Amino acid sequence: MSPEPLNSIMICMGSSCFSRGNNRNIEVIQEHLAVQPLPPGIELTGHLCEGHCKAGPNVTINGKMYHEVDPIVIIGLLNHYSQQRAE
Ligand code: FES
Repeated sequence: MSPEPLNSIMICMGSSCFSRGNNRNIEVIQEHLAVQPLPPGIELTGHLCEGHCKAGPNVTINGKMYHEVDPIVIIGLLNHYSQQRAE
């Protein structure tokens, strides 16, 4: 079963996730979106700590939280969900 098209992307801006990698991940996401914008009505949003700091940096896509996200992982996720959108 293929995943649904990208419908939301949220990045944890809590101090732990931010300092451990989401500060770089948000730059990578913004660079990706400059080339391949999100569909209309969908935005990149941030949220505060949700108590999963040990597993961070955390990024939530389509309601699914991904853990230990680094720039390579986030590029893979964005490409994966972008492909779903194109189909
Ligand atoms: S700072 Fe991201 S879950 Fe706590």
